[in-house]
Amino acid sequence: MRRFTLTWLSASILVFALCAFNAHSQDQGAKVSDEFRRDYIKNFRKHGLSTTPGDAMFLRILVENGKLKRGIEVGCAFGFGAINMGIAFERNGGQLISLDIDPEMVKTSRDSIQKMGLGKTCTVIEGDALKTLPTLEGEFDFIFIDALKRDYLKYLKAVLPKMKPGALIVADNVIQSAREMKDYLEWVQDDKDFDTVIVRSSMDKNDGMAISYKLK
Ligand SMILES: C[S@@+](CC[C@H](N)C(=O)[O-])C[C@H]1O[C@@H](n2cnc3c(N)ncnc32)[C@H](O)[C@@H]1O
Repeated sequence: MRRFTLTWLSASILVFALCAFNAHSQDQGAKVSDEFRRDYIKNFRKHGLSTTPGDAMFLRILVENGKLKRGIEVGCAFGFGAINMGIAFERNGGQLISLDIDPEMVKTSRDSIQKMGLGKTCTVIEGDALKTLPTLEGEFDFIFIDALKRDYLKYLKAVLPKMKPGALIVADNVIQSAREMKDYLEWVQDDKDFDTVIVRSSMDKNDGMAISYKLK
């Protein structure tokens, strides 16, 4: 009877340890190969809401080349931009926090992040960015703004005190949605604390991005 109890106890401990290990691996994202990541990105389901492959790569290069460490993405949709930028933040030993208001988008992007093995680098927070941005702690050196076009300036102002000197502020769709974000574009182009350039990107969408450098 005593031997049976001991065996049962050992088996339970082993099962518990395996479950805990498994849960931990899933939380952190399993290690996946570069080849898997390339294929996953290449075969990512195309959707009009997602950043184009060219833009996603452009963002990744900006982050990696700038050795940026703490980034925010406002509006992550299916997570296509997040997984691309996430690779750069992982290489830099940094972190990316993506925000989205839509619970389905949050679920889908978290799933992609886990599959890409980026769970240690990328986090997705659900909620209205105008409410979640002010709750973010610490300082940031990168933000990609890609949610409601008319609210771009509000998003920026909600987090501006936490943006470090030298931070990059990237706003998407600034050509097609220029009218909706007139206040934002005027602000970043007129304020002496920013250097701003509008670049043609998303050639397939005939759109562009505003890239601003925070001088101080
Ligand atoms: C153009 S998509 C983002 C694409 C994504 N950045 C990418 O790289 O694929 C815009 C997203 O913003 C989200 N969104 C809209 N209003 C929002 C808000 N107030 N707060 C947070 N997310 C919001 C939408 O749910 C949608 O998923």
